[in-house]
Amino acid sequence: MKPASVPTLENPGALIDDNFAVAASQYAGLLKNINGADKLPRTFEHGKLVLIDYKDWTSGFFPGSLWLIYEHTRESRWKRAALDYTRRVASAAKLTDSHDLGFMLYCSHGHACRLTRGREHREVLIEGARSLASRFNPAARTLRSWDHGADRWRHPVIIDNLMNLEYLLWAARETGEPRYREIAIGHAHQTLAHHFRQDGSCYHLVDYDPESGVPVLKETYQGYANESAWARGQGWALYGYTMLYRETRNPLYLRQAHASARFIRTHPRLPEDRIPLWDFDVPSAPVPPRDASAAAIIASALIELADYSEPDIAQRYRELAWRQLVSLSSPAYRAAPGENGGFILKHSTGNLNRNSEVDVPLNYADYYFLEALSRLKKA
Ligand code: GLY
Repeated sequence: MKPASVPTLENPGALIDDNFAVAASQYAGLLKNINGADKLPRTFEHGKLVLIDYKDWTSGFFPGSLWLIYEHTRESRWKRAALDYTRRVASAAKLTDSHDLGFMLYCSHGHACRLTRGREHREVLIEGARSLASRFNPAARTLRSWDHGADRWRHPVIIDNLMNLEYLLWAARETGEPRYREIAIGHAHQTLAHHFRQDGSCYHLVDYDPESGVPVLKETYQGYANESAWARGQGWALYGYTMLYRETRNPLYLRQAHASARFIRTHPRLPEDRIPLWDFDVPSAPVPPRDASAAAIIASALIELADYSEPDIAQRYRELAWRQLVSLSSPAYRAAPGENGGFILKHSTGNLNRNSEVDVPLNYADYYFLEALSRLKKA
C-alpha cells in the first residue's frame, strides 16, 4: 500500500494542494513584479515580464487564475487581488473588434459573478455578450474571428472561437434573450460541419463566404501546416464540444468530444510525459518545443468529459489527464520558487510561426492548469 501522502488519481488531494500552494507563492511574487502598473501579466519572455491591457485576448486569464486560487484557499487577499485585476478587464465589454470576449470576460467577470454574485460583473458580462454577438454572420451562422487579414479572408473562423459559446449560453439564460443561444448553436453546428477531418482532428481556420455562408478555405495560421494538427487547436476542440455537451446534451457534440479525445490520446507522437509537441505533425528535428498550455487545456477537458463517459473510457481519460497534471507538476514543467517571472508553468508555445512566445510561460497555461486541478478536486 502506498503511503497516504503520495498523490494518486484516486487520492489526488496532495497534488492539488501542493500546486495551489505553489500558485499562491508564485503569484504573490508576480503581483510584486507587476510593481503597481495598471496592467495584467501575459508572459515572461527574454527575461522580461510582458504586461498587457484589457484589449489583449489573454487579459481574462490572470484574474481568472486569481479567482481559482481564491476559491481554493478562501483567503481574502486573493479575493481582493482577483477583484482588482478583474476590474482592469471591464472595458473589454465595449469591444466589437475582437472575438475573444469569452476568454477576456467570462474567465474574469464570469468567475467574479459566480463567486460574489456582484451585479456590476453581471452588467459587464451582458454588455460584453451584446458586443460579441455583433460579430455573428447569419449566412455563415458563425461569429467572425479576426478583422485582420481582410486581403486573404472574408469571414475567418478559428477553432478557438468555440470557447465563446459557454459565455453566450450563459447570456441566453441570464437575459432570457434566445438570440444568444441561437448564435451559440449556429456556431457550434457550423464548426462541427466544417472544421473537422475524418480522423477527428481539426483545422485551425475555416474562411466562409459571408454572403452565401459557404466555406471557401481551410488552413492554419498558428499550426505547422494547413493539414497538420496544431496541438492547442485540438485542445480547444475537445474542450469546446465537451462544454457544449454539458450545456445542451446534444449527442453529436459528445461524439465530437470523444473523437477529439481519441485523436489526442491515441496519437503515436504524444510524448511519454503526455505534454504535446506544439503541433502533432511537426518534424522531429530540430527538437520541437512542447506546448504546456495545450496539455493543461486537454487535461481540464478530459476530467469533465470523463463524467459523460462509460466507466472504461472515463478511466482512460482520467488517467491521461492525471499523467499530464503529474508531468506539469514536476520540475521539468513547473517553475522553481521565484523563477519564471512568477508564472507557474514553463514550456508553452504561443505562436511559433511568428517566433512569438516560444517555450515560455503563458497566463492561459496557468489558468487551465488551475482549472484542471479545481475540477479534479470536485470530481
Ligand atoms: N486564441 C489564440 C491561441 O490559442 O493562441
